[in-house]
Amino acid sequence: MKPIQVGLLGIGTVGSGVFHVLSRNQNEIQRRAGRGIAVTMVADLDTARAQAVVGSQVQVVNDARAVIANPDIDIVIELIGGYGIARQLVMEAIDAGKHVVTANKALLAVHGTEIFAAAHKKGVMVAFEAAVAGGIPIIKSLREGLTANRIEWIAGIINGTTNFILSEMRDKGLDFDVVLKEAQRLGYAEADPTFDIEGVDAAHKATIMSAIAFGIPVQFDKAYVEGITKLGAQDIRYAEQLGYRIKLLGITKRTPQGIELRVHPSLVPAKRLLANVEGAMNAVMVQGDAVGTTLYYGKGAGSEPTASAVIADLVDITRLHTADAAQRVPHLAFQPDQMSDQPVLPMSEVVTSYYLRLRVADQAGVLARVTGLLADAGISVDAMLQREAGEGEKQTDLIILTHDVREGTMDAALAQMQALPTVLAPITRIRKEELA
Ligand code: HSE
Repeated sequence: MKPIQVGLLGIGTVGSGVFHVLSRNQNEIQRRAGRGIAVTMVADLDTARAQAVVGSQVQVVNDARAVIANPDIDIVIELIGGYGIARQLVMEAIDAGKHVVTANKALLAVHGTEIFAAAHKKGVMVAFEAAVAGGIPIIKSLREGLTANRIEWIAGIINGTTNFILSEMRDKGLDFDVVLKEAQRLGYAEADPTFDIEGVDAAHKATIMSAIAFGIPVQFDKAYVEGITKLGAQDIRYAEQLGYRIKLLGITKRTPQGIELRVHPSLVPAKRLLANVEGAMNAVMVQGDAVGTTLYYGKGAGSEPTASAVIADLVDITRLHTADAAQRVPHLAFQPDQMSDQPVLPMSEVVTSYYLRLRVADQAGVLARVTGLLADAGISVDAMLQREAGEGEKQTDLIILTHDVREGTMDAALAQMQALPTVLAPITRIRKEELA
């Protein structure tokens, strides 16, 4: 049988990886897919560079629409990124009856509802394993492997750049700005690292996982997003003394009131496997009611790890494209007419525990007033640490770990603590997740 024909839109790092892995492992992949898979057409603005990657046998054009218009192309891979032209091209490819594979988390987290609806109507597949945690097959695991379960929560390190930065800050005791420059020099962080360091990239991925885990629409606009730019080396040190590490987590959780969907730095007990995921690696913990806790670990970015996920999607589509559309795995795991309207909770309704660092005057009664305000708000203290004031110093750091409390209650208590004349600087608040 003739190989299934694939058109590639954008042949940068990931696209080159797809081309090379498909070529290198073609026999193995064909034995699995039951049919060859061939990239026969590539669109890229830099046609000379693209031609150099794919060789003279593959047609290279500078117009992505020429790929979509080609009746021989069965699957279009979108690797352009962003929500601009990529969105238009994905919609046009669907409209032209092409199956689509994309690694574009931003596009799906923001416009997924529209894209999946169009694909469903047209009877084509939109596959996106590479959009979350690169080479880790987390979409497949959530959507198929864990299909028996009522998923309770997911917590993941789903941005390699920030995990690299946090690992370096902890290892070397350096501040954020210094490590960011080093990460950029080493090529881990983009020249404009905003999406990574502000938590936006992780929130895109958490949004997609949330939809698949709970059968809710993708709702990036409801996600709470906080990055790592304000983290200080001293908080990493204090956390360590209390038995915790600080990680940027993407969290989504089912609660009786609604769904939590949030990205922020979190203290994680040092003994948890997730706390020991270092450097640019990714890991996702999923709690299901039947299976218990599961953990998925691997490379969340890079040419061939991401290509591994893209090609898995190509194989799925190759196996399924002749099947009745109703027999395919639904895009968001749940049948489109079975989606839940459970609300995504505002951050003020989220219940979690906290690390607080207060810069206070080192004098009698300060601790009592702070803990008094916490007690008045019904917030229970779990542990405390007071840095010994240096010789002649009149200030000190007070570190408090709390038990679970509603964020809105904590906000109100923090405002009162901040107003105390003996609290001398803005209070640092970092959420804490036991992941038990
Ligand atoms: N920039 C991402 C990361 C990889 O650092 O993990 C692509 O999502």
